[in-house]
Amino acid sequence: MNRRTLLRTLTAASAMAPLAFGSNRLTAAMVSMADTDGEDFWLTVQQAYDVDRSIVNLNNGGVAPSPRTVMSAFHRYTEQANGAPAYELWRHQEPHVEHVRDDLAMMFGASSEEIAITRNASEALESVQLGLRLERGDEVVISDQDYPRMLTTWEQRARRDGIVIKKVKFETPVKDPADVVRTYEQAITARTKVLHCSHVVFLTGQILPVKDLCDLARKRGLFSIVDGAHAFNHIATSATDVGCDAYGTSLHKWTSGPIGTGMLYVRKDRIKEIWPLMAAPESMDDNIRKFEEIGTHSAGMHNALSEAVQFQRAIGIERKSARLRQLHRVWIDQMAAYDNVSFLTDLSNDRNQCGVRLVSIMDMDHGKLSEWLLSRHHIFTVAIGHDQFKGLRVTPNVYTTINEMERFARAMKIVAEDPGVVG
Ligand SMILES: Cc1ncc(COP(=O)(O)O)c(C=O)c1O
Repeated sequence: MNRRTLLRTLTAASAMAPLAFGSNRLTAAMVSMADTDGEDFWLTVQQAYDVDRSIVNLNNGGVAPSPRTVMSAFHRYTEQANGAPAYELWRHQEPHVEHVRDDLAMMFGASSEEIAITRNASEALESVQLGLRLERGDEVVISDQDYPRMLTTWEQRARRDGIVIKKVKFETPVKDPADVVRTYEQAITARTKVLHCSHVVFLTGQILPVKDLCDLARKRGLFSIVDGAHAFNHIATSATDVGCDAYGTSLHKWTSGPIGTGMLYVRKDRIKEIWPLMAAPESMDDNIRKFEEIGTHSAGMHNALSEAVQFQRAIGIERKSARLRQLHRVWIDQMAAYDNVSFLTDLSNDRNQCGVRLVSIMDMDHGKLSEWLLSRHHIFTVAIGHDQFKGLRVTPNVYTTINEMERFARAMKIVAEDPGVVG
């Protein structure tokens, strides 16, 4: 495929994207593109980024870079705003947020009246966690594999308001997702008001059965909060697929938005129940925009999200997920031969995981391993520690090359064969 054909392909994919994102249906044409795209397609994607190739960045789960189009939109808005700030920002730039809201709503298969743009996933999720009306003794079910800041938020509410946290533990690797649902179900009592779960577990990359968990919450009359920081634009997902009351995500991870962007979805009929973190007038009680009353801020940050949305649409979510799985296969297949190497997700079923993986080497200090990879091989990863397991988290992105994954595989084989090399 030559460059001109590729550009046509990206444009065609972009035109079809509402189908892919809005309803999670893919046209046959896109499926066949996803199956047949070769390295030429991904070369165009790789070259859309200005990343530092002197390191192999395999920690895109923390925060990911934006493509050049996003960065230039952000810079353009920022420079324009600086020319006559109050005039530019409030007359021209801020109203564009409605366009961004429409873009994100279409991607998440929601109404624009259910989408707020936040500065990150923490702000989105804490708006709901701290804004829900709960009484002393009310219970919240969450797991010990949820994000620490989200746990801290509930713990602060427990200290301040006397709510009770029920923290479940599930077996890792997850063998049967139905076991996870049963574990949450067992923790629900007559006092439970909220079920909070992660869509993709940040530690292991495990994709949880959020639809079943939200169905359970609805059946038991609970408010469901899904932490989608690692799911949106990583795996195919929509408000209807998840069926939650509230969903919070970062847009600077898998959406490749500017660093400092996030999204909050709240089902229209539940908006009124939540106090915003920063005050809004009573007339906005059932208006999703009440979660954006944060005072003066950079409009360029949220406006540049339109470019990120275009970029993600052009790739297409099914093709993106398939590519991330392919990048992982480059090294995981080579690790399978080593008895001292294990994975914290069930590799026999792709539906369990996508672009985030946790690998564990027996008796290894994974912090030291991460440092060794960086200092000796210029490969950036992150060590993960949890009560039940530990390992090295590996998250490539669409700009990652097969060659970079092979470089990582070579380094990991050295360690698997001789763990002492790490020191
Ligand atoms: C599962 C999960 N939730 C929430 C967050 C917080 O995201 P942010 O830094 O965008 O606030 C993270 C960040 O890594 C995460 O992994």
